[in-house]
Amino acid sequence: MLKDTLGRPIKDLRISVTDRCNFRCPYCMPAEIFGEAYEFLPREEILTFEEISRLAAIFAGLGVAKLRITGGEPLLRTDLHRLIGMLSRIDGVDDVTLTTNGYLLAQQAQALRDSGLNRVTVSLDSLDEEVFKTMNGRGFGTRRILHAIQTAADVGLSPIKINAVVQKGVNDHTLVDLARHFKGTRHIVRFIEYMDVGNRNGWKWDQVVSAAEIIRSIDEEMPLAPLESNYHGEVAQRYRYRDGEGEIGVIASVTQAFCASCTRARLSTDGKLYTCLFASQGMDLRGPMRDGANDEQLAERISNIWRRRSDRYSEERADLAPLQNAARKVEMFHIGG
Ligand code: GTP
Ligand code: 5AD
Ligand code: SF4
Ligand code: SF4
Repeated sequence: MLKDTLGRPIKDLRISVTDRCNFRCPYCMPAEIFGEAYEFLPREEILTFEEISRLAAIFAGLGVAKLRITGGEPLLRTDLHRLIGMLSRIDGVDDVTLTTNGYLLAQQAQALRDSGLNRVTVSLDSLDEEVFKTMNGRGFGTRRILHAIQTAADVGLSPIKINAVVQKGVNDHTLVDLARHFKGTRHIVRFIEYMDVGNRNGWKWDQVVSAAEIIRSIDEEMPLAPLESNYHGEVAQRYRYRDGEGEIGVIASVTQAFCASCTRARLSTDGKLYTCLFASQGMDLRGPMRDGANDEQLAERISNIWRRRSDRYSEERADLAPLQNAARKVEMFHIGG
């Protein structure tokens, strides 16, 4: 079995299908930087569906069983359901899922489901209209996203997860309401500690609300009890409501790093393989593929990269903090989180 220098196998592949987004969340693509004139990747640099599914099949041959489609905003990619159809037929892949901001989800949900998508994760940072408008950077309201979540549930894209990034002083006062709204709906809200991904969000430690604080504030109003993980390496810590009305999760990537069980690889829109969310460089797969490399050669290249992998950025974060601005990291919208 293919393992990296820390003994971690490769199990998940997160595929970014576009670097564009219709939101401008200040912690990811601040509007003042990503304005009208910002140049996203030109078409020829973006992997085609055929290239993506060829690479995904090679990754599956090396042990990957779970595929997550991300962006930017993946539903901006034309005919995405066609790619889902191709990916869901790959031998060895047993979970194909998608992370979206939900804006374009309602109209695509049925086609995605019919093409073989198993489930979706929708990012929704707050149900407070003003807070949400600020956090998506475009002034969009929550109604459309809530409708999309309902539509996704209706067509069977469940269990639906709702991802909320928690930023101190921005949305932390609204997280109990968010949890309460989805309590009893079977949708699983997961609160994510705000991370120092990319180079543009001006991240500071004091903007982080710890998972422990998040759990405490929800538990005070709606008592919680911890649950076992669903699988080894699950990033979210699970809690159930003691009254039986479902579960929530917290992703403590800052205060309780989970690098030791990190089995995730990331493929950027332009065909680079990143072995960490915080990597400064990706390894090109598109070049060799377009130069005529066969599947075995590509598998060999991927294996060599993975075998050399030693990333554990989140565990090292405390020591690295002073260097944070020196090392340029990949942007979140290139690899989708
Ligand atoms: P499930 O398959 O439903 O368990 O979800 P997942 O584990 O794939 O989680 P998801 O993709 O929804 O990740 C949620 C968030 O957790 C991401 O948006 C990131 O913010 C964070 N996250 C996920 N993977 C990693 C990782 O490898 N490292 C770090 N530091 N954060 C991660
Ligand atoms: N910290 C934590 N999560 C983040 N995301 C984007 N930027 C950050 C950050 N700095 C989340 C989004 C979405 C997923 C793709 O990544 O909110 O849920
Ligand atoms: Fe778009 Fe997601 Fe980044 Fe927000 S976090 S700007 S929705 S890619
Ligand atoms: Fe994996 Fe890097 Fe995240 Fe650690 S920081 S869990 S190695 S992606």
